[in-house]
Amino acid sequence: MCGIIGFTGHLDATKVLTKGLAELEYRGYDSAGIAFFENEEIRTIKTAGKVACLKEKVEASTINDATCGIGHTRWATHGGVSDTNSHPHTFGNVTLIHNGIIENYKELQAELALQGKTPISQTDTEIAAMIIDDCFDGDPIEAIKKADARLDGQYGFCIMFKGIPGKIFCIRNGSPLVATHTEKGSVIASDMVALIDYSKDYFVLPEHVIATLTAEDITLVDLEGNNVEPEMLHVDWDIEAAMKGGYDYFMLKEIHDQPAALMNTITPRIKDGLPTFEADNVPDEVFTNCNRILITACGTAMHAGLVGKNLIERIARVPVTVDVASEFRYNDPIMDEHTLVITISQSGETADTLAAIRLAKEHGAKTLSIVNVKGSTIARESDYVLYTHAGPEIAVASTKAYTVQLSVFYLIAARFALVTNKFTEDDARDYITKLQQAIESVNEVLANEKDFEDVSASLDTAENLFYIGRGLDYCLAMEGSLKLKEISYIHSEAYAAGELKHGTISLITEDMPVIAIATQNGVYSKMISNIREVKARGAKVILITNGDDQNVDESICSFQVSIPKIDDMFAPFTTSVVIQYLAYFCAVRRALNVDQPRNLAKSVTVE
Ligand code: F6R
Repeated sequence: MCGIIGFTGHLDATKVLTKGLAELEYRGYDSAGIAFFENEEIRTIKTAGKVACLKEKVEASTINDATCGIGHTRWATHGGVSDTNSHPHTFGNVTLIHNGIIENYKELQAELALQGKTPISQTDTEIAAMIIDDCFDGDPIEAIKKADARLDGQYGFCIMFKGIPGKIFCIRNGSPLVATHTEKGSVIASDMVALIDYSKDYFVLPEHVIATLTAEDITLVDLEGNNVEPEMLHVDWDIEAAMKGGYDYFMLKEIHDQPAALMNTITPRIKDGLPTFEADNVPDEVFTNCNRILITACGTAMHAGLVGKNLIERIARVPVTVDVASEFRYNDPIMDEHTLVITISQSGETADTLAAIRLAKEHGAKTLSIVNVKGSTIARESDYVLYTHAGPEIAVASTKAYTVQLSVFYLIAARFALVTNKFTEDDARDYITKLQQAIESVNEVLANEKDFEDVSASLDTAENLFYIGRGLDYCLAMEGSLKLKEISYIHSEAYAAGELKHGTISLITEDMPVIAIATQNGVYSKMISNIREVKARGAKVILITNGDDQNVDESICSFQVSIPKIDDMFAPFTTSVVIQYLAYFCAVRRALNVDQPRNLAKSVTVE
């Protein structure tokens, strides 16, 4: 969601800020703005629309010697998309940018109204600026401390005070802020993608700790006035990882990144051919003490959890339930100290997923998270973390982050089975070999890219479609359907193939294409029967299969997409790439913004 950048130092701040905002565009936004000190005065330039519009406005302005400023991309929550509602917001002595939601802004607004103070925007953020100004008596740190006690909700703020040039003050509750200092100055941002130009070493601003950024250094104090030492982290990817590398879109690049990302994720966790989480400090007791697993996450990450459930139940024989995180905590889940709650998150900042972890801990359950972003809130708040090594994922539609999440579930299932004696060491070695082979075979799918474009062309006029499958293929159908809706705007529904005839088959006509996934041996013949049922009602069928069934011809499908023949338990890796390509090419053929689909944010930091 909202992107934040702040800089003070020895560079042209307007250039640093607009560049940083362009790097944060992928988070999703609808307006952008910057504020900076110019001759000791704070000046603001902001606009509804893209960072490119903001940049034009900035470049058309005469700006003298700006070396300290803050910049923001806004994803509207309170108040429509307009210049006025864009950040930064100024009230009195305070100019600030904000990522999050001030939940008690209505009450605070009423309090301020009693003093005759009224905002000019419809945003909760302007109320926060008014409250900080209300608390300001010449000392920024004191004002922020007092305001922190009055604000409820979630926030990451970068604040500049009139008459205090060269300094940026920051505080957060929930919303992420990461910072670094180099000889060029101090930089703070909502994520590493905007910092990597300056340093690979950074720290996460601890919650309710106030950071003061100057050109010389960054100092941290807690709300009691104690100095706080930042805990430095290091990213293991380079600036190139956050660039398109010659591909038309980040999504395409990220589809191609998958074999390497998968290998980077599993290889450190395989020792002597066996799965191990020793280096991750996840002890085997996490599995041996557990009699029930609850998996919770959002969107694509939740779909990875569905595959995880299938694998864990199949080979470790422990019951698993999966729930979307936005429902999880309202469903009063049954948890105790023998429950393992597994959460999955690329960003590590998804508000609902984080809330689920906090609830699980209140119930005494153990929490294990699968996270891509190092040092993120979900990673820090979980008892155990298994980091995925996808590198930065810039396209809003998740691709490589999803498949690496799958790979971690394959390892969890195997380790669980091994330490609870459901697997012998030989079983586990055999399984790991198959996992490695499955990842290798992703390269074969990538080599057939052109075929997927041809198949996608058959969906050029489609407005609705069904994705169907059984077992693991149904989990993949759900992900395929989400991916397609998200970026191509084709309405699609994922259905368990055997369930269609219980109502939904009434929607099948020649105008309703069906993408059928049939990779699972145990249900293959049943799946083919289900395909015949939709074909008989006129549907155009695209069949994704790893079979070499002689009976599969144009009488049951208009297009057949063949994926490499591997052990069917491992088919999700290759199938994932196919469904990603189908969504990608459908969106490209409709000339849509593949990387930044409308209304969506990459990191969903509000509930
Ligand atoms: C879809 C997509 C989203 C995310 C979801 C959770 O392509 O990316 O559905 O999977 O918003 O995000 P994270 O994984 O950051 O918690």
